[in-house]
Parts: sequence; C-alpha cells; structure tokens
Amino acid sequence: MENITGYPVTHKDYLKTRLFLVTELKRLLRKCSVIIEAPRRFGKTSVIKEFLRQENAKKEEKREFNVLFLELEGEETVSDFCLKLFKELLNLYRLRKKIDALSRLLGNTWNAIAARLGKIKLPGFEVELREITGDYTLPEWKEKITPMITHLNSFDRKTIIVFDEFPDMLMNFKKKQTKLDYKNTTDSFTAWLRSLRQIQVEGCKYQFVFCGSIHLRKTLEEIGISKRINDLEPFVIPPIKSEDARLLIECLAKKYKLEIEEAGIAFMVEKITEGSLYYGQILVKALRETSEKNFSVDKVKAIYEAMLRRGNHDLNHYHSRLEEYLSHGENECSKVILKHLCSGPANEKEIYDLLLYGKSPYEQFQSVVNRLIYEGYISRDIHDNGNLRFVAPILKDWWKFKAGVTNVRL
Ligand SMILES: Nc1ncnc2c1ncn2[C@@H]1O[C@H](COP(=O)(O)OP(=O)(O)OP(=O)(O)O)[C@@H](O)[C@H]1O
Ligand SMILES: [Mg+2]
Repeated sequence: MENITGYPVTHKDYLKTRLFLVTELKRLLRKCSVIIEAPRRFGKTSVIKEFLRQENAKKEEKREFNVLFLELEGEETVSDFCLKLFKELLNLYRLRKKIDALSRLLGNTWNAIAARLGKIKLPGFEVELREITGDYTLPEWKEKITPMITHLNSFDRKTIIVFDEFPDMLMNFKKKQTKLDYKNTTDSFTAWLRSLRQIQVEGCKYQFVFCGSIHLRKTLEEIGISKRINDLEPFVIPPIKSEDARLLIECLAKKYKLEIEEAGIAFMVEKITEGSLYYGQILVKALRETSEKNFSVDKVKAIYEAMLRRGNHDLNHYHSRLEEYLSHGENECSKVILKHLCSGPANEKEIYDLLLYGKSPYEQFQSVVNRLIYEGYISRDIHDNGNLRFVAPILKDWWKFKAGVTNVRL
C-alpha cells in the first residue's frame, strides 16, 4: 500500500477495512440510482474507481456492469456535458459491438459516423464530433442522447453512468451565466436527467451515480429545484473508525519501514479518527519528510505540531476554499464558529445566540454551518444531541493555531 496523498486510490492502495463500501455501492446499483453523500476528501471518488477497477479486472463473461465514469469538474456548459456523455456512450456502443443499433438510433446524418466508429480511435474523432455538434441546443442533444440511454436496456448487462463532481459543474454554469439563465438552464437540464430515470422500467438496465452531493442538494435547493434529485438513493460514506485509522498507519509504516512507538501510533490514530483516511496519509507524509526511520511518541508529537504550525501542508485547501467560496460576511461568520468550536462541541443555536445574533442573519449562519459540514470541517454529532464539533482532532488542532487560540494542548 502506497501513500497516495490527495488522489483517489484503488486496488492495493485501497484500505481493506473500507472495501465494504464498494460492496454496498454495488448492492444499491443493482436496483437504483444513487447520490453519494460525504464531505470533501472522504473517499467518494475512490469508492467509484475501486468499483470500476473490480469490474474491469473480471473476465469479460463474468462482468456484471458496464461503467461509464465522467469527471465533470472542468465542464462549463450543458453542451460540454452532453458532448462528454455522448462520447462515452458512443464508445460503449462501439465496445459492445452495437454499431448497427447506433445507426438506427441516431438517424441518417449520423450513419456515416456510426459506420466508421469501429475503425476510428476516439481522440482523432473528437474534432469531427465537435464540428457536427458545436451548435446543438439542449433539445437537440436530448433527441440524440435519450434513445441511446434507453436502448441500454437491450444490452446484456447493466450500465452504470457516473457523474463525478456534478455540483462543481453546476457551479461552473452559474459563473458563466446570469442568475435567471442559470436557473433556467439548471432547471431544464436536471429535469431531463430526472426524466431519464423516470422512464426506467421494471428490470431497467441502467442507473446513475451523482457524486459530490451534499453540496448538490444545497445547490438545487437554493434555486428551488431540489425535487429533481429526491428519487436518488443516498449512499453515505461514513467517517473512519479508529480501526481504519490504525490499519492505515500500520500498513504505511510497514511499507516505508518506519518504526513508530506504540504510543506514537495511538496518538496519530486519535488525531484522525472520525475524519478521513486523507488525514492519516498527511501525517505519514510528514513523518517521511524528516527522512528518519524511528519515531518515539515525543518525536511524533513534535512533527505533528511543527506541521500544523508551519501551515504549508495539505490541510490548507480547507481554508483556501472558504476564502474562495464564501462572501466576506460568510467568511467572518465561519471564523467565529470555528474558533468557538476549538474549545469543544457546542449547540448550533447557542453559538448563534451567543456570538452572532445581530451580526449575521440566521439564514446566513445556517448556510455557513452547512457549508462547513460539506467542506469536511465540522459535523453534527448524532451521539451528542446533534451538537457541532470539528470532524477530527487534527482539524481542531490546526484551526487552534490558525485562530490564535491560546493554551493549545495537543
Ligand atoms: N479506501 C481508501 N484507502 C486509502 N486511502 C483512501 C481511501 N479512500 C480515500 N482515500 C484517500 O483519501 C483522500 C480522498 O479520497 P478521494 O479523492 O477518493 O475522496 P473524495 O471524497 O472524492 O474527495 P474530493 O471531495 O476532494 O473529491 C485521498 O488522499 C485518498 O487517497
Ligand atoms: Mg472526488
């Protein structure tokens, strides 16, 4: 197992105790479309990629699913999205040797292209596709893509179409358009995607995965169309348990021949439990950066503290994202909440009444809290009356340094 910090992992790099997530995802996908709900860096993309890998590793005749994986972070318009989906579908029809069906579905103007699909490598094909589809509107795209999707019902195995970073794409639409245009586009676009799921019949052979999702719910709520996704089955990725944290650290220590005193391991485990494996990866990275091999508990603590104080580490994107996405008022509000939580879990309403009443409208406060949850900073602790707290101690310790909280005790 390698220490792959910040990138999705599969196969030997995928922690064994988390493989149950892949099994659970498969189980859901046999019967419905899914929305993956988890904060940032919790392992959403990794679950999907490991699922994809497991399918591809099987012998052709043993495969249960065709999986189309669309990474949408950089797509800026509905047309970009449609072209990407269209290409993936063309490729699937090619691989499954369904080119005749494709000619029938696409109509005369596309016959020539469909006929050549089998011989053409897709990259060279792209320019031509862009030329033909350059001025397609959403209704024209729908006319092409909808039958290609419903026809998946005649394939011998199920097709799963994954939209990773879907909400980020919607955010890109927002940046490019006026508020009204954005609302209209998103409305008709998500209505179409929903209609594709509604025409699914009994024993339907295609399902969708929407990923990046708590944010997606909020994004659609803000423009009043959250009903567009209320048919999707939520797939929750839970935070890690201490067993997961320990196994990750022990596996990585073995791989890189690091000798860590038991109390040092326990210290690391405690700091990252209830968070994500990502935190474990960055701790191991910090140990490795010292080029040493033996770590007493005191040394582990010193490295931990130095890493958090230094600031130029892999936690920084948590902060820079807030700077980027929150308005000045929201940002100030987030700092008050986070600073308060440095001294321990707290009740949401009490934080507002005590610190923000009269300074920030309640709706703004709530939207900031939800944003901090989606960003993976804080969570509502269901075992503690829904009180807010930092997701894991490592984030709390880091924020203590950032917020200048005195008496920091690690
Ligand atoms: N099962 C796992 N085993 C080991 N490491 C994992 C596992 N799942 C996730 N990670 C690690 O956690 C980090 C986040 O993983 P991933 O990119 O899959 O999460 P994500 O939820 O898609 O993140 P983002 O919100 O940034 O899209 C990565 O560094 C990845 O290597
Ligand atoms: Mg991801």
